[in-house]
Amino acid sequence: MRKLIKGIFLNPKSDYSVEVLNNYYLLIDNGKIEQIEKNIEINEVAFDVFYDFGDRIIIPGMIDLHTHIPQFRAAGIGKGELLEWLDNYIFLLEAKFSEKHFAEDSTKLFFKHLISKGTTTAVMYSSPQKQACEIAFEIADESQVRAYIGLPLMDRNTPEILVQNTEQVINDIFSIAKKWHKKNKCEFVLTPRFALSCTEELLQKVGEIAESDDFFVQTHLAENKKEVQEVKLQFPDIENYTSVYDRYNLLTPKTLLAHCIFLNDEEIEIINERNCIIAHCPTSNKFLRSGIMRANKYINAGLKVGLGTDVAGGYCLSMLNEAMEACEVSKLLSVQNEMHDDVLEAESAFCLSTIKAAEFLEISEEVGNFEIGKKFDAAVFELSEVHKITELKENELLRALMYNIDNRTAKAVFIDGNLVYHK
Ligand code: GUN
Ligand code: FE
Repeated sequence: MRKLIKGIFLNPKSDYSVEVLNNYYLLIDNGKIEQIEKNIEINEVAFDVFYDFGDRIIIPGMIDLHTHIPQFRAAGIGKGELLEWLDNYIFLLEAKFSEKHFAEDSTKLFFKHLISKGTTTAVMYSSPQKQACEIAFEIADESQVRAYIGLPLMDRNTPEILVQNTEQVINDIFSIAKKWHKKNKCEFVLTPRFALSCTEELLQKVGEIAESDDFFVQTHLAENKKEVQEVKLQFPDIENYTSVYDRYNLLTPKTLLAHCIFLNDEEIEIINERNCIIAHCPTSNKFLRSGIMRANKYINAGLKVGLGTDVAGGYCLSMLNEAMEACEVSKLLSVQNEMHDDVLEAESAFCLSTIKAAEFLEISEEVGNFEIGKKFDAAVFELSEVHKITELKENELLRALMYNIDNRTAKAVFIDGNLVYHK
C-alpha cells in the first residue's frame, strides 16, 4: 500500500533544531517513508491513497518516556506530596486493577487517549498485579503503540493488598517477559518501582536479570525531598540515592530514571558514567510540589534527557503539553536562579520528545523524525483558529502548536504508516 501525505511537516533533528517542510509531500510505501518532496506532479506518482492535510501541522509520533497506565483515572484528582499521595490515592486505585474488567476498561481508555494525543511510543508502568500487566500488553499490542511496559516491583513498604512476594514476583517477571518481550512492538521493562518499595534481595535479583538479559530498566529517582530522606534511613550504608541503584547494577545505558530533581554532583557523575536516560516530568513535578529538575544543566553536561507525562503525577497525557511545561518550568528556574539565558527552548523540548527519545531507546533508525527509510509514525494537528488567520513565520509554527492548550487532540495519528486514529 502506497500513501501520499501532504501538509506542513515539523521535522526535529538530532542537533536540537527543527526543520519546517512547508507544503511538502511524503510518499509512504509499506509503512516506510520512500520520498520527501516539495514539488511533485501528482499525476506522475503511483499511490493508493492521498491524505491532503492542507495547512495542518504534521509531527513525528511523540515518545513518552515515563507514564503509568493504571493512574490515568486519577489524573488531576489527588493532592498532597508524593508519599502521602501514593498512600491516599494511587495505591487504592492500583488495588482495583485486581478486578479484571476494571483493569481492561481502564487500560483501553488509557491507550485510546494516549494515541489521540499523538503519542506513538511510550515507556509505561502497569498496575502491580501480574494479570493487570498482561492485560496492559494485550491492549497495547492491539493498539499498535510501540509499548515498553513494566510490572512495578514492590515487596516492602506497600499496603498489604498490593505487596508482592519476592520469589513469586521474580517468577512473574520471567513468565510475562517470555510471552511479551520483543513481541511485535512490545517490550518488557524491569521496573523496581523505587528504592523504598524494594527489598535489597529484590533489587539484587533484578540487577542480575538486567545484567544477563537485554532489558530496559525503569525506576523513580530523587523525586521528592522526603522520599530522599527516607531512602537515606532505609539504606544507611549507601552514600546517596543514586548509589542504591548502582550498588545493585541497575544503572545501565538502558535504564530510565524518572524525575532526578535532588541529585548532587557526584550522583550526576554516576548517571553520566553509566550513560542512563533521565525522564524529565515537569508537569508531575509541579502537581506533586516535588520541585524543578535542572534540565538544561543536565543536557549541557551531556546527560540523556527525555520527557515523561508521569500520569497521574502529571495530569495530562499530551507530550506537546509536557514539552510546553518543560519550557515553562525552565523559565521559572532561570528567573529564580537569575540565569536569564538558561531556558529550554521550544525546539529543544520538541526534539527531546521525539528524535532524542528515539535515540535513547535505540530506535532512531526506525522512528523519531521524518527521514527516508524510517517508519511513518506521525500525528496531525490543527492550529488554533486565530493562528490560522495569522501570517506566522516558519519558526513560530512550533510554538503556535505547542502552546495551543485548548486543543491537544490530534486530527489523525499514524503508526507504521497505518492510520490508527482520526477525528
Ligand atoms: N514513586 C514511586 N511510585 C511512584 C508513582 O507511582 N508516581 C510517582 N510520580 N512517583 C513514584
Ligand atoms: Fe512515575
